[in-house]
Amino acid sequence: MRMKLNKNEHQNDSGVQKYAVPPLLKDQFGRTFNYLRIAVNEICNLRCIYCMPEEGVPFKPSKELLTSDEIIRFIKVAAGLGVIKIRFTGGEPLLRKGLVQLISDVSNIPNIQSVHLTTNGVLLEGMAVELKGAGLHGINISIDTLDPDKYKMITRRDEVEKALKGLKAAKEVKIPSIKVNVVALRGFNDSEISDFVNLTKHYPLTVRFIELMPFDAHQIWKTGKFFSAKQIINDLKQLFPNIKTSIGTATEHSIFSVPGFKGKVAVIPSYSRDLCSACNRVRLTADGQIRNCLYAKNEYNVKELLMNGSTDNDIADLLLKAMWKKPIDGWKAQRSGKEHRESMTQIGG
Ligand code: GTP
Ligand code: 5AD
Ligand code: SF4
Repeated sequence: MRMKLNKNEHQNDSGVQKYAVPPLLKDQFGRTFNYLRIAVNEICNLRCIYCMPEEGVPFKPSKELLTSDEIIRFIKVAAGLGVIKIRFTGGEPLLRKGLVQLISDVSNIPNIQSVHLTTNGVLLEGMAVELKGAGLHGINISIDTLDPDKYKMITRRDEVEKALKGLKAAKEVKIPSIKVNVVALRGFNDSEISDFVNLTKHYPLTVRFIELMPFDAHQIWKTGKFFSAKQIINDLKQLFPNIKTSIGTATEHSIFSVPGFKGKVAVIPSYSRDLCSACNRVRLTADGQIRNCLYAKNEYNVKELLMNGSTDNDIADLLLKAMWKKPIDGWKAQRSGKEHRESMTQIGG
């Protein structure tokens, strides 16, 4: 029998969540937060056109980023407030020295049920074995097109083969949860929907089509490339008329599987923001700022507390306060001030 989930109870990739610690991180609208996304750097080995210009953005130097010890301390405090799922993002997290050790250390923190990574996969082939060995539970790999020329246009780098080898390696070492993130761009990769869905035929991975978000200084989302979640779902249903609804995580607002296929296909309405009422996530930027919403402008400086001898209680208080003040949705958050970051790579996605 399929279990009915409450508003704040999502299936994560290890099944329905059980809490050893009560979920204490709450907001004034009744949401609880059990999923912490931490950016471990801002630098990247790609230059996706919707993310940053060819010359990059002013990346924070390593000495201004949280250290592994600071990240671990913050996670322990968060775990004491009911956080059970950690995702490392970037920038490109595989470029961070010591990442494998960090994943291993975090996997062993009491109450943390699963550790995940979002990566472009370019460096994955050579690291998959050690990542699996460190206890990595899930990996989301961003590959917006399977066509080498288009990949070069979107990322400004000729790396699709390496990214695909990374995906293959993740399957070979059997990382338990594997997902492919595809930012949907009208007139660019909309002709590849079937090819992506076919990746789910023989292997139980999830392909996710993501709405483009306005997070780059050049605003290419205004240039007619926007492909809404509704339109993607329409296209999916036309191409695969037997597609059935399924169960996924909070961002997988619409999730399907094609009968006979092993994996799943999801559509993430990251711009339309239909997912806000079920939001269960907290963000920490690479330079140590808590962001209570992807679209939030106000940040809470935890780096300062980690550096100035504050207690774990002080850190917990800041986290509780930050989440309590979370705006009702991403629209309200977007209107709440002026963005001071230039690129998704400085937020962590
Ligand atoms: P799962 O834990 O596997 O569901 O992954 P995820 O969707 O949380 O993480 P991932 O890093 O793979 O992000 C996929 C896309 O969803 C990215 O484009 C993110 O920026 C976007 N996304 C993640 N969290 C949020 C959110 O809270 N709000 C919005 N609007 N988009 C989000
Ligand atoms: N809009 C939508 N998705 C984006 N990502 C990065 N920038 C954007 C954007 N402007 C995606 C990446 C990756 C995930 C972490 O976020 O492609 O899949
Ligand atoms: Fe790098 Fe991700 Fe930005 Fe692309 S979207 S340039 S992979 S950080």
